[in-house]
Amino acid sequence: MTATGKAIVLGGVTGLLGVPLTWALRDAGYDVLPTSRGTLDPFDRQALLQAITSFGADVLVNTVAYTAVDAAEDEPDEAGRLNRVLPGNLARVCLETGIGLVHYSTDFVFDGRKTSPYVETDPVAPQSVYGRTKLAGERAIRESGLENHLILRTAWLFGPGKTNFVEKILGFARTRDVLKIVHDQVGSPTFTVDLAAGTVALMKAGGRGLFHLVNSGRASWCELASEAVSTAGINCEVLPITSADYPQKARRPAYSVLDVGKFAEVAGYAPRPWVQALREYVYGLSSDEE
Ligand SMILES: NC(=O)c1ccc[n+]([C@@H]2O[C@H](COP(=O)([O-])OP(=O)(O)OC[C@H]3O[C@@H](n4cnc5c(N)ncnc54)[C@H](OP(=O)(O)O)[C@@H]3O)[C@@H](O)[C@H]2O)c1
Repeated sequence: MTATGKAIVLGGVTGLLGVPLTWALRDAGYDVLPTSRGTLDPFDRQALLQAITSFGADVLVNTVAYTAVDAAEDEPDEAGRLNRVLPGNLARVCLETGIGLVHYSTDFVFDGRKTSPYVETDPVAPQSVYGRTKLAGERAIRESGLENHLILRTAWLFGPGKTNFVEKILGFARTRDVLKIVHDQVGSPTFTVDLAAGTVALMKAGGRGLFHLVNSGRASWCELASEAVSTAGINCEVLPITSADYPQKARRPAYSVLDVGKFAEVAGYAPRPWVQALREYVYGLSSDEE
């Protein structure tokens, strides 16, 4: 992976992660070409090759994915096209052009039976179409033969610019007295801005292969919601319920906290706690409204 250079960010115009990633790469001195489905179809091999050559890209960063976890259960083919076929195609294009690939995966590759943070070498056993297709995407990259790649498993994203769990919760909390939120799923809430900075840190450190990259700490959805509501100063009670009280189409792991030790070793720092990152995000939202 190059320490500076030219990066194409697929999904960089509209994605929850793509947008802050574009900012972070630019801040770090990269020349960045962010794309959207309107400007570059990531499935169009010729258009991709042309974009890589004419921009002189050193690295392709893929944030494009099928991320609607429940809808994926009804659309396994489309989820597979975006989450499995696309990363394989991109890896082959990178191999052919001699450039690096940065790609994102998910904590939902795990079954959630562990009770301590998952490391990169833990066995995978996805419980949903989303998790299975994302895992297949990781494998497609590895099997392409492209060594110059980074696959970053992340989780529970919140951040500016696009709707996400925290933003939705704050919206509901402003109009209701009580919110009931699932408390028996525990994971690693992650600020997209920190994920973007961590991605750049790994690229600069020459990291290769598979890494877990999330904010430090752990929370249930209920704890995350509760912290967001109190940070925003909204008068709304957040009550815990079980997954059985809130049935969802896709099965989710009960526990999917990710260990960031490997990231910290290579990047030279551990990501800050999610509570601290959440405060920055929520305070930023309220200053946007002023
Ligand atoms: N969000 C999370 O909580 C979470 C958790 C774990 C892992 N991840 C992973 O992190 C990465 C980034 O996620 P994210 O939340 O930033 O995703 P996102 O906001 O849903 O963005 C996905 C991007 O893919 C684009 N896209 C979707 N379908 C497309 C298609 N058919 N052709 C071209 N572009 C298409 C979207 O474009 P449009 O805006 O035009 O639709 C958008 O730019 C993904 O790999 C995801 O699996 C996310």
